[in-house]
Amino acid sequence: MRFLLLLSIGISAPITSLAAPASDLFISDLVIDDEGLHKRENLCNLKTPPVICQPNSSVTVEETAQRAYKFYRAFVVDGDPKTMFSYIDSTYKQHHPGYTDGPSTIWSLFCNGAKIGTEQNTAWCFDASTNMSYAQYSTIDRWRWVDGCVHEHWDQNESIPKSKCYKLNGTVT
Ligand SMILES: *[C@@H]1O[C@H](CO)[C@@H](O)[C@H](O)[C@H]1NC(C)=O
Ligand SMILES: *[C@@H]1O[C@H](CO)[C@@H](O)[C@H](O)[C@H]1NC(C)=O
Ligand SMILES: *[C@@H]1O[C@H](CO)[C@@H](O)[C@H](O)[C@H]1NC(C)=O
Ligand SMILES: *[C@@H]1O[C@H](CO)[C@@H](O)[C@H](O)[C@H]1NC(C)=O
Repeated sequence: MRFLLLLSIGISAPITSLAAPASDLFISDLVIDDEGLHKRENLCNLKTPPVICQPNSSVTVEETAQRAYKFYRAFVVDGDPKTMFSYIDSTYKQHHPGYTDGPSTIWSLFCNGAKIGTEQNTAWCFDASTNMSYAQYSTIDRWRWVDGCVHEHWDQNESIPKSKCYKLNGTVT
């Protein structure tokens, strides 16, 4: 039952936008994942992310693409809030009318480690020509990467530039 509840929340409602209000998404602390075997990491005892991204101008395009993949995995597939927020910088500018900038304002949406989908039923992309990454699930999010960190977020009328997605070297799986 808990799993069904979680799935319906993850797919239909506020998590479709990284900017949704925290009050819409309340899940109690113990949640079983889709194999029913593992307890997800729930960090909702913390009021802010345990670690955020420190901008580093030496991070290469290849490294940024790998980070973008890990960010997608943590956010969509793994439900790993600590890793997810370790790629978000202190600015995290929101392009969704009415929502506040910064990683802490969305922490409460993700601290419980909700999984949104699998690699098979979702998609990701990093476009090196724009430094934008994408995650497609029930909606499509777009993020701009600056100095190796997620810096800005959009989630309206996005589409993945499929012909421009970076091909990772296979070392990141
Ligand atoms: C910045 O990134 C470069 C390239 O990945 C890395 O070698 C260096 O250790 C990083 N610096 C810090 C302070 O993390
Ligand atoms: C993308 O980021 C790299 C550094 O990772 C930078 O050299 C490049 O100019 C950026 N491209 C755009 C279009 O902002
Ligand atoms: C998204 O697209 C719809 C339909 O084309 C349009 O009505 C709406 O204004 C667009 N929203 C944004 C934020 O661009
Ligand atoms: C990809 O990985 C292989 C094996 O580790 C390595 O030999 C090759 O240089 C890598 N290619 C790039 C573009 O990093």
